[in-house]
Amino acid sequence: MTMKLSTDPSAATLLPIAKKEGIATVWDRHRAMQPQCGFGQLGVCCRICWKGPCRIDPFGDGPQRGICGADADTIVARNVIRMIAAGAAGHSEHGRHVALALQGVAEGRLPAYQIRDEAKLRAVAAKLDICTEGEDIPAIAAAVAKATLEDFQNQDHDVPCNWIEATLTKKRLERLQALHVLPHNIDAVITQIMGRTLVGCDADPVNLILGGIKGALADFNGMCLATELSDALFGAPAPVVTAANLGVIKQDAVNIAVHGHNPLLSEVVCEVAGQMDEEARKAGAKEGINIVGICCTGNEVMVRHGIPLAANYLSQELALVTGAVDAMVVDVQCIMPSVSEIGACFHTAVITTMAENKIPGATHVDFKEETALENARRIVATAIDAYKRRDPRRVNIPDFKQTAIVGFGVESVLAALATLNAEDPLQPLIENIANGNIRGIALFAGCNSTQVAQDSSFVTMAKKLAANNVLMLATGCGAGSFAKHGLMTQEATLEYAGESLKAVLTAIGTSAGLNGPLPLVLHMGSCVDNSRAVQVAVAVADKLGVDLDQLPLVASAPEAMSEKAVAIGTWSVALGIPTHLGTMPQVTGSAKVTELLTQTAKDLLGGYFLVELDPEVAADKLLEVIEERRKGLGI
Ligand code: SF4
Ligand code: FE2
Repeated sequence: MTMKLSTDPSAATLLPIAKKEGIATVWDRHRAMQPQCGFGQLGVCCRICWKGPCRIDPFGDGPQRGICGADADTIVARNVIRMIAAGAAGHSEHGRHVALALQGVAEGRLPAYQIRDEAKLRAVAAKLDICTEGEDIPAIAAAVAKATLEDFQNQDHDVPCNWIEATLTKKRLERLQALHVLPHNIDAVITQIMGRTLVGCDADPVNLILGGIKGALADFNGMCLATELSDALFGAPAPVVTAANLGVIKQDAVNIAVHGHNPLLSEVVCEVAGQMDEEARKAGAKEGINIVGICCTGNEVMVRHGIPLAANYLSQELALVTGAVDAMVVDVQCIMPSVSEIGACFHTAVITTMAENKIPGATHVDFKEETALENARRIVATAIDAYKRRDPRRVNIPDFKQTAIVGFGVESVLAALATLNAEDPLQPLIENIANGNIRGIALFAGCNSTQVAQDSSFVTMAKKLAANNVLMLATGCGAGSFAKHGLMTQEATLEYAGESLKAVLTAIGTSAGLNGPLPLVLHMGSCVDNSRAVQVAVAVADKLGVDLDQLPLVASAPEAMSEKAVAIGTWSVALGIPTHLGTMPQVTGSAKVTELLTQTAKDLLGGYFLVELDPEVAADKLLEVIEERRKGLGI
C-alpha cells in the first residue's frame, strides 16, 4: 500500500520530476528508514553515557533498567526534557539575537536597521514597566533591550524573567510560582536541564518533568521577546493580500528563497533586493528580483510585507526541484541538510549565513548585523550570477498558488475589532464568544512531519472546527499549510465557516474595510509568534477576570516534529491550554510520564496534552473540550 505523501498539489507535480532526475527527497528517505526504531519511538532508548546505549524492554521480558539503574520513567523524562531544552535554546538564541540588534540600533551601531514601529516600542516599554516620559526613541530602545537582556543574566532565582511576568495573568503567574516553574534566567534554566539530565543526576520523573516545564516557560519567554522586539524593529503585521505555494516562483525573475527563522537576515535581503532589481533585469530577468519565503522566515516577511510564501517545511526541497530558484538563503532552524545537495543538481546557490549553522556544500556568507547591507548585497549578487546559469529546459514551476490574506498580529486584530467598538475593542469578541456565535478559539501551530500526509491533518481539522464555529489562528508551518490550501481567503470563510462564525467574521471584516469577511484562519506569523495568540487570550482572560485554563481555548500541532514543538506544546499546557498532538510523542514507553503530561498536568496546570492521530476524531475531541470549558464559564 502506498501512503499518500502530501496533499499539496505541487508535490504531485514535482515528485515525479525529482524521481526522474534521481533526486531523493524527504519522503524517499522516510521510506528508506522503515521500520523505524521502536525503542526510540517509545522514548526508552538512552544514549546519555558511554556505558550505553541502553534500552528498556517495553514488553517486560528484557532489561527494565539501564546499566546505571535508570528505569523507563527516568529515561523517558530525561529524553523529553532535553528536547525541551533544545527547543528553548533555538527560540531563545533567536530572541537574544533580536534583543542585541535592538541594543545596537539604540547605540547607533547598526546602519542597516531602524526602529520602524515606534508605537510598538513604546507599548513594549510600557508593558515592561519602563518609564518613557521625556525619553527619546534610542533611549527607550536601550532600556527595553537592557530589560530584555536581563532575562538572560539575572541570577536571583526568586525574581522571574521580566517578559513572562509582564505577559501572563496574575493568577497564572501565582500558579506557576507555587510549582517553582517560573524561569528566572533563560540560559540558566536551559543549562539546568542539561545538568540535571547528566548520567547520575536527577532520576525522579516528576521532578524532571517540572524542570522541563520551567524550560518550556523559558522558551515562552524567549518567544515573547523575539516577537515583540522584531515588531518594534520591523513593524507589527497588518492585513495584506498575498499568495502561497510554489506557483509564486517566477519564470522570468531572479528568484531568491529566504528560508529559516530570523527576520534580521531576511528583512535586509528584501530591502537590498529592491535596490538591485535593475541589475537583475540587466542580467536578463524581465521581472527583476522575486523574493519568496520558506518556513518561518517566509512567515515573518509574509505577515509584515506580503512577500509570497513558496513552501512550508516538507516542501522546501521541492522549491529547488522547480529548477527556478536561483538562491536559497538560510539562517537557522528547520533547514534540511539535503538542500545543498539538491541545489547542486541545479544551478541554485544555497547560501548559509550564520557562523553556528553551516551545511557542507553550501556557500557561506558570514552575516553580521554590523555589515548586513554589504552581506545582503553579496547574497543578491550571488543569486543574479546563478540566474545566468539557469537551464530553462529544467524549469518546472507548478501552476499552483492560492491567495492568502495574512498579517493578523494583536494590534491588527484589535484594530479590526475597534471598528465595531472603538471604546472597547475586545467587547465584540467576548460578546460573540459568550453568546455562542463563536464557540471557542483554536490555535494551530507546529510543523509538517513525514508521519502525516503533508498538510492533511491541518486542513481536515480546520474544516471541521470551522463548521462548528470555532475561530482559528495559525502560526509557523501550520499557517503555511492553510495559506497553500486556500483557507486564508474570504471565499474559504463563506464556504467552510458555520453560519454564526461566518456572520461574525463578515461583520468584523466588512467594518474593517475588507469588503467581506475575515479569512477563515488568521495568520499570526512565525512559530515564535505563538506568543501573539497568548497575548490575545490573556487580554480576554483579564477582561473576564478569569485565568487562561478557563477559556474555551485550545491549541493543536497536528503534524508536529521539531524539538521546538515539544517546548511550545509544553508551555501551552503550562499556561492552561488543552494541547492536541497529531503525531505520537516519544514518551509512551513510560506510563508515568504519559500520565503526567496527559492527566496530572490537568490538575496542576489546567492544561494537558491530548494525543490523537486521526484528525477527524481530534477535531471532535477539541470541540468537546471547548464545550466543557464553556460549561465551566456558564456560557
Ligand atoms: Fe544506560 Fe544509564 Fe548510560 Fe543511559 S545513562 S546509557 S541508561 S547507563
Ligand atoms: Fe518555525
